[in-house]
Amino acid sequence: MKKRKGIVLAGGSGTRLHPVTLGVSKQLLPVYDKPMIYHPLSVLLTAGVEEVAIITTPDDQPAFRRLLGDGGALGLAYEYIAQPSPDGLAQAYVLAEAFLDGAPSVMVLGDNIFHGPHLGRLLAEADRQVLGARVFGHPVPDPSRYGIIEADASGRALSLEEKPAQPRSNLAATGLYFMDHEASARARELRPSARGELEITALLETYLAEGTLEVSWLGQGYAWFDTGTHDSLLEAAAFVRTVEQAQGFKIGCLEEIAYRRGLIDAEELSHLAQPIARTGYGRHLLDLAAAAQPAPRKRELRRIA
Ligand code: TTP
Repeated sequence: MKKRKGIVLAGGSGTRLHPVTLGVSKQLLPVYDKPMIYHPLSVLLTAGVEEVAIITTPDDQPAFRRLLGDGGALGLAYEYIAQPSPDGLAQAYVLAEAFLDGAPSVMVLGDNIFHGPHLGRLLAEADRQVLGARVFGHPVPDPSRYGIIEADASGRALSLEEKPAQPRSNLAATGLYFMDHEASARARELRPSARGELEITALLETYLAEGTLEVSWLGQGYAWFDTGTHDSLLEAAAFVRTVEQAQGFKIGCLEEIAYRRGLIDAEELSHLAQPIARTGYGRHLLDLAAAAQPAPRKRELRRIA
């Protein structure tokens, strides 16, 4: 199996955030101390991918490039793909077909924030699934506003319904999807829905019909935000601020995750911190780099061995 690749879907029209998003892409807006897109990117980094497609509107692409570059500074490779018009979430797999080149994928919506214990372990388990697709469910109090999944005790999906009037469960499908190498070919076969979009639900239904749609639970202690409205954006920002200040670590800190994954070393981390050294974010990176243990000298290594 090829190594899994990542996709951040960061286009769309952001109409629920007008007029804020008339001049700037939603996924570049701040969520307290960092741009929104850092959050989905941090999920992909935690999932262990090294190649990431960043899908944006053609107009916004230069701003994303200015912010994120080519990924090389974090030991990653970013590829930018333009989505000419917001024709649906499943279109991402059609647009990214050449990028994926037959690899399995993990896609995160650009306006979704996940925070919870052992996310890395959950994502590593998901990565081991070779065939089929996987969604991540989170319990919500108002299921008729979401895509709702019902699963058996082993985690196999039994049904998937968009905004059901009579929900069969309270488990909402979040904006995080693992798909096997067939996703692009399946997405290509989809027809636009009544609202003119290639629906992610329709793509997932092709796996559901074959019994290969799996569900992971974002259980106790997990927070999930879709930051698509003014109130949810403010709530997410307040959450990030509270957790960061109370617990003294950062949520969605790309440089830190890259460092902990061994993609960059302490010197590179410190270098990345320099231009933002006047911010709490920059100081956090500098503290991390300073706390790094100097590498043991060769003679010590031999003694340890
Ligand atoms: P939505 O929040 O469903 O749509 P939107 O961002 O256009 O906002 P609004 O409903 O306020 O008009 O999209 C979820 C995520 O997927 C968001 O990060 C934007 C992205 N998206 C695309 O990149 N392309 C698309 O075709 C669609 C529908 C969404």
